[in-house]
Amino acid sequence: MLSAIINRRSIRKYKSISVDRAMIEEILQAGSLAPSSKNRQPWTFVVVMGTAKKTMLEIMEKGLKREKENPLLPESIPYHSGAAYTLQIMEQAPVVIFVVNPLGISIHRTLNAEERIYEICNAQSIGAAMENMTLTATELGLGSLWICDTYFAYDELNRWLNVDGELIAAMTIGYANETPPARPRKKLEDIVQWRV
Ligand SMILES: Cc1cc2nc3c(=O)[nH]c(=O)nc-3n(C[C@H](O)[C@H](O)[C@H](O)COP(=O)(O)O)c2cc1C
Repeated sequence: MLSAIINRRSIRKYKSISVDRAMIEEILQAGSLAPSSKNRQPWTFVVVMGTAKKTMLEIMEKGLKREKENPLLPESIPYHSGAAYTLQIMEQAPVVIFVVNPLGISIHRTLNAEERIYEICNAQSIGAAMENMTLTATELGLGSLWICDTYFAYDELNRWLNVDGELIAAMTIGYANETPPARPRKKLEDIVQWRV
């Protein structure tokens, strides 16, 4: 097995050291090499750092506040505190990469069966890109965190990003300031069924 698969952890504490642009580009290159449904490559990456990151955090905070008062995702209210924590992690990380799906269908719309399948296939493709990115970060000695709490500020961040498409996920990148142990995983015997 690749050592990056074994050693990767979600990193939630970062050193205040900047990351070389060449490393960020290598991570993005790895994302772009991911397989995708019908080779649609449904991704646009937006790299946010420095003063742009400060503005982005303000926008996300505004979104989280609006979500508390007027939730777009009412059944996810128990996760609001987790989203506030994710925002703090994003504040510490020197780099935040947003992934926008240029072929995405707004979450405000109800989907028919074909549209759902199209969305599922594109989401899997983006997941493959994200995994390539997080493993490459590990390989380069960097920490990363895959983030979907951005959905709590979905409209606000989509407007701020100002890219054609729908926000899907974000990833923080930076030098880790923690060494978390491996998080528990289900045993293979509980999750695998063989048909022979
Ligand atoms: C699709 C996806 C979304 C995630 N969103 C968040 C998030 O918004 N905030 C966060 O702190 N962690 C987030 N995580 C990280 C998971 O909590 C983490 O991967 C899981 O607990 C296992 O820990 P490990 O990555 O260290 O193995 C996300 C992971 C994935 C794959």
